[in-house]
Order: sequence, then C-alpha cells, then structure tokens
Amino acid sequence: MKGISFWFFATATIYVAIGMAWGIMMSATGDHKLAAAHAHLNLIGWVTMALFGTYYHLVPKAAENVLAKIHFAIATAGVLIIVPGIVMAVQQTGETLAKIGSTLTLLSMLVFVFTVFRNRMAGA
Ligand code: HEM
Repeated sequence: MKGISFWFFATATIYVAIGMAWGIMMSATGDHKLAAAHAHLNLIGWVTMALFGTYYHLVPKAAENVLAKIHFAIATAGVLIIVPGIVMAVQQTGETLAKIGSTLTLLSMLVFVFTVFRNRMAGA
C-alpha cells in the first residue's frame, strides 16, 4: 500500500491505538463521561479513515487525483478538531470546536461522495 491509501491507513491505526488506550483508561477509572469522544475518535478516526484508505487502494485513478490529497487534509483536520470539540462540549466549556470539526467531517464525506460518483467507471 502506498500514496494516499497508506496515509489514510497509517493515521487511522494511530487514532485507534489512542482510542483503545482511552477506552481502557475509561474502564479502569470507571469514568465514562467522555465515551462519546472516544467513540468518535474510533469511528471517524479509525473506521471511516480506514474505509477511505481501502477505497483509494481499490481505485488508484481516484488516489492519483489532487482531490484525494485535499480529502485527506480535510478529513484529518476534521478528526483532530471534532474529538477535542466533543470533549469540550461534554464538559460544557464551549461548542465552537465541535461545530468546526463536525462541519469539516461532513465536508470530507461530501468530497468522498463526489469522488465515488466521479470515478464510478474506474477501479476493480
Ligand atoms: C481497547 C479497546 C476499547 C476499550 C477498552 C473501549 C472501552 C469503552 C468504554 C469503557 C466505553 C463506555 C461504555 C459506557 O459508558 O456505556 C466505550 C464506549 C464506546 N466505544 Fe469503546 N472501547 C474500545 C474500542 C472501541 C472501538 C475500536 C470502537 C469503534 C470502532 C469503539 C466504539 C465505542 C462506542 C460507539 C461507544 C459508545 C459511546 C457512547 O455511548 O457514547 N470502542 N468504549
């Protein structure tokens, strides 16, 4: 695996390793208040990013387009902003980061919707 698929997968593995450690910490302390942030780190950071990586591996034509790099940048910014954003929202210390992170995360999915349709005849 190389190129953008690698980067989607490589970062996803880091997110899930952190997410799992966070889950173990929640279990050990019995404090589940931040479970929603843990869940989003794992589901957006690991599952969604790994699915994006799988798609770009299966459809190399899509991976070669500059839009794939833009997609990676938006998706990464989304994960890195939405997770602390949810922590802050749960702790009632502000919702701005959650709003920015969720908008970026949606935007990254819209880029992906466009990419999937644009490359419908390409790939395996
Ligand atoms: C070492 C691995 C993991 C541990 C120890 C762990 C631990 C936990 C704990 C303690 C909770 C809170 C449960 C509660 O309050 O009812 C939780 C919630 C959750 N976890 Fe994990 N987790 C792990 C990995 C994952 C992974 C890989 C995913 C997804 C791909 C995931 C998704 C979720 C979801 C969706 C919730 C529910 C969040 C909510 O109710 O707001 N977890 N986890």
